[in-house]
Amino acid sequence: MKPQVFVTRKIPESILTLLRKVCEVEYFPADDHPPPNEFLSHMENKQAILCCSADPIDAAFLSAHSQLKIVATRAVGYDNIDVGTATRYGIAVTNTPGVLTEATADCAFGLLIAIARRIVESDIYVREKRWDRLRIALLLGSDVGGRTLGIIGMGRIGQAVARRALGFGMNVLYHNRSQVKPAIEQSLNATWCELPDLLRQSDFVSLHIPLTADTKHFLGQKELGMMSSNAFLINTARGPVVDEQALIQSLEKGEIAGAALDVFEFEPAVPQELLNMKNVILQPHNGSGSVQTRTRMACMAAENILAVFENAPPPNLLNPEIYTR
Ligand code: GLV
Repeated sequence: MKPQVFVTRKIPESILTLLRKVCEVEYFPADDHPPPNEFLSHMENKQAILCCSADPIDAAFLSAHSQLKIVATRAVGYDNIDVGTATRYGIAVTNTPGVLTEATADCAFGLLIAIARRIVESDIYVREKRWDRLRIALLLGSDVGGRTLGIIGMGRIGQAVARRALGFGMNVLYHNRSQVKPAIEQSLNATWCELPDLLRQSDFVSLHIPLTADTKHFLGQKELGMMSSNAFLINTARGPVVDEQALIQSLEKGEIAGAALDVFEFEPAVPQELLNMKNVILQPHNGSGSVQTRTRMACMAAENILAVFENAPPPNLLNPEIYTR
């Protein structure tokens, strides 16, 4: 009998075909996951789940489905999965690093330009038919070229953002737990600095750190207070990395110039205060949202599942301990 997999939401047909060669696939072909009670019924006798970052794979879920061999998320971030509990049950956990680096960096840099040059506000202005003649001081924004970009988290995506900044002649500062190799710093023309220095000196601060117990509210009132009143915050990482209430206060007091946010602390809830602000751009957690990238992510997640059923360690394994005990 073929091993059984539950795919929690829409996936390209070609990836389903790939999975079906080896597995029995139960599939919820919607954009959203099934309601919680249905979710559990889909999970009966499943050895694998192909999920995404909005599916809560917590300790209770894993205890109820300890027969699982693998949880394969189609995301690079895996803060929705209790990896410790999965490891205790010997369940492999995999993610999809690398394939979404460029798409997410495009999104971060797109948001940076859009917030600096008030592109969303300008679009609304034209759509509302408020544009009556050329006005010399209309919707003036801030320069991007030649300004200072502070990157918090210099992993794959942070480095891809720095590469884009190079093309705009930006001065790049970064903060990371450890300094990246000198050759990488040189190629990106990026300088490591302490977080307060980065916050004080940057015109744009872009977040690229994962959400962990240590990074929750990495930017709070104190840190936001260090930013320049002309500076913009861009968050394409995870919402809880920023204290959202502190951010709202900081924006209300004009302590920072604006924010472009793809992620939120309690998403999909977005505070009304942010919805009301013109100097804020909001996106529905869609950093990797291109057809090509989402297809590559789904394919990578499927390949991780197939590896497990071929008795091989999956290529993007997050808990290798399960094979060495
Ligand atoms: C998306 O949020 C991801 O982590 O890939």
